[in-house]
Amino acid sequence: MYLTREEEKLLEASEQTIAKSMEILIALGKIYDAKKLISIKSAHISGISYQNIGEAGLEWLENLSGKGEANKVKVKVNTTINPAGMDLERWKEMGINESFHDKQLKIIKALERIGAKPVMTCTPYYLEKIYIGDHLAWAESSAVVYANSVVGAATNRESGISAIASGIIGKTPLYGMHIKKNRAPNILIKLKGKTNPSAAGFKIGNILYNEIPLIELERNLSKDELKLMGASMAATGNVPIFHVIGQTPEWNDFDMPREKIEISPEELTDFQCEPDLIALGCPHLSVNELKDVLKILEKEGEVKKTLWLFTSKSLATDNIELIKKLEEYGAKVLNDTCMVVSPASERFECVMVNSGKALTYLPKLRGVKVAFGSIKECIKEAVKT
Ligand code: F3S
Repeated sequence: MYLTREEEKLLEASEQTIAKSMEILIALGKIYDAKKLISIKSAHISGISYQNIGEAGLEWLENLSGKGEANKVKVKVNTTINPAGMDLERWKEMGINESFHDKQLKIIKALERIGAKPVMTCTPYYLEKIYIGDHLAWAESSAVVYANSVVGAATNRESGISAIASGIIGKTPLYGMHIKKNRAPNILIKLKGKTNPSAAGFKIGNILYNEIPLIELERNLSKDELKLMGASMAATGNVPIFHVIGQTPEWNDFDMPREKIEISPEELTDFQCEPDLIALGCPHLSVNELKDVLKILEKEGEVKKTLWLFTSKSLATDNIELIKKLEEYGAKVLNDTCMVVSPASERFECVMVNSGKALTYLPKLRGVKVAFGSIKECIKEAVKT
């Protein structure tokens, strides 16, 4: 891989964090046959819940960031952080113990020492304006597929480690989604019926793996619906980008794929159990989704079961009145975390979700049963006695 003089110097930098970050990017570039490094606008780090990375991950991050001393090396570009294992303020209400709390804080502090912003959300695109053609180095599959597909920005699905390295150097190897021809669809999917977007994404991802679909729909989807469809598809099929005819920015930039399939995904009726937790916000809820929940609650009445709504702290702070009203109906609006990465979900038997991603990971990572429904069906369940 070609390196500029400046990049070569970074490889020999006396600061270990910089030299190591360059080594990581070069190793990645070699694996994918990248010709050079390119500048990025931002990085997004995932895999920061203590529940998922444990003691080994905490130690790695503490070493990287200088273990409590002031660290000289900082990220070069805007670098944000994915959800943690708890709400930083309401962790006790979630049933999180002191020991977990302390370890989780250490992880966040380590990342802050290198200059990462502790936004703890998987929807960094609600906080940072990104545009078509921007190059990014984001980990978090749901954010990656949204940035590539809905915005038209470019990012590979980074690991937590490569996202940190990219944040520190401000660059990423040029391969995969950063090259236009690799973003071309190779299969046309005609979706029949007015299916739920999460259910559609879940089914498409189960049919495809690592492929790029061009999707023809019977109705236009909102950006929130595209977010849900993409997150589900990325979870079940590792799909990095999708195009929707007439809707997403690059759908018409390529030749029509020759292979074509028609699917009429039914709702996800296989997932049924009696929920004791209803959890929405995978990916984190937008303002419009929170408003939709409130509208349904105004019609259906007060929450009788446990209803958790996950969103970013920043979005909640900017919409205090909306959050207050939702809580008056008995919902708990939690920030900095989600039902999948927090051990708090393990206290429940069956979790009802409207997300194909949560449906995929909750049983695997939290060992709970799952039920599926639209936002409306989930709220109707939450108000039942
Ligand atoms: Fe976000 Fe957690 Fe889902 S990080 S995409 S809410 S699994």
